[in-house]
Amino acid sequence: MTLHLSFLIVALACCFAPGAAVASQALASDLGCYNCHGNPPRKKAPTFADLARTYAPAGQDAASQKKLADKLRDGSIFSHIDAHERLSPEVAERLVRWISEGAK
Ligand code: HEC
Repeated sequence: MTLHLSFLIVALACCFAPGAAVASQALASDLGCYNCHGNPPRKKAPTFADLARTYAPAGQDAASQKKLADKLRDGSIFSHIDAHERLSPEVAERLVRWISEGAK
């Protein structure tokens, strides 16, 4: 838990700093996203490279990113993924922004 918090603080503190992408990748890794979205991905999960291509149009558009983040946290009748649903709005938006910028 302490580890999670420290990543969160790093990730939120440095939003526009050059290290932001690296911090977001560390955050995604810490949150277990790569367990399913790694390479090879688990079951029907898309890789982050796939997601980056899909999310690229949301690139610099904060409103689109917010929509995608909300959609991720909400899930759907067909898909309940705890790792998505327990994200805070801020962290979800941060990860979506990172994905739309290439997820690297
Ligand atoms: C237990 C496996 C699992 C974990 C852990 C997981 N995901 Fe996913 N994720 C999936 C699957 C499966 C899909 C595709 C089906 C769906 O959209 O529900 C998906 C879809 C997505 C999508 C696309 C949603 C859309 O439809 O636009 C994004 C973005 C995403 N995941 C991000 C993340 C992030 C960020 C994390 C870490 C916080 C994460 N995932 C953790 C399994 C997982």
